[in-house]
Amino acid sequence: MKVNRSEFIISAVGPSQYPQDALPEVALAGRSNVGKSSLINKMINRRNLARTSSQPGKTQTLNYYRINDDLYFVDLPGYGYAKVSQEQRRKWGQFIEEYLTGREPLKLLLLLIDARHEPTKDDVLMYEWVRHFELPLVVVATKADKLPKSQWQKNVKIVKETLGMPKDAPFVLFSSETGMGKEELWSLIESAIGY
Ligand code: GTP
Ligand code: MG
Repeated sequence: MKVNRSEFIISAVGPSQYPQDALPEVALAGRSNVGKSSLINKMINRRNLARTSSQPGKTQTLNYYRINDDLYFVDLPGYGYAKVSQEQRRKWGQFIEEYLTGREPLKLLLLLIDARHEPTKDDVLMYEWVRHFELPLVVVATKADKLPKSQWQKNVKIVKETLGMPKDAPFVLFSSETGMGKEELWSLIESAIGY
């Protein structure tokens, strides 16, 4: 996809604020700090349209970005951040669950996993949950540039095995630094939204 226009639309705190124009939505989930906002910026060639931060747990809303007149990227709040309360966790779960199970324009979920480490318990739970609801899914392993090339294969194997992914399930090794995986991911997004 050629990105001609990308703009921030809204930080939504509930369904009444979601866009009404029925453009396809591609949502990003993953732990705090895994690189969700950075991935959006890389996909649309913008330095900092999606706000990134070195402080994890910052994004607490559904942030909508419109790309051309073709789709929205929906940056979801990160999970697994230790410093949030039980009550916040419960609210997060409910909010995200409602979006992921009930949002008609949602066409694809990108589940981001840090390529450097074995997926956490939260990652595995999230993956299993998404499979249970049969949401179209691409697993994206992030921060590949932080690993030597010689370790890519081994780490990819650990990620896939820990999640229990089927052999041919969609998977992209990605870097927001180098742009690795960008074209492959755009192809998967294009087919998911019927572009
Ligand atoms: P929350 O909004 O808190 O959930 O985090 P996030 O998932 O949006 O992460 P974000 O994109 O803000 O990135 C977190 C940190 O990791 C930032 O310091 C980024 O610069 C860095 N980062 C993200 N992706 C990459 C990558 O591919 N390579 C490298 N080297 N650093 C990355
Ligand atoms: Mg973010």
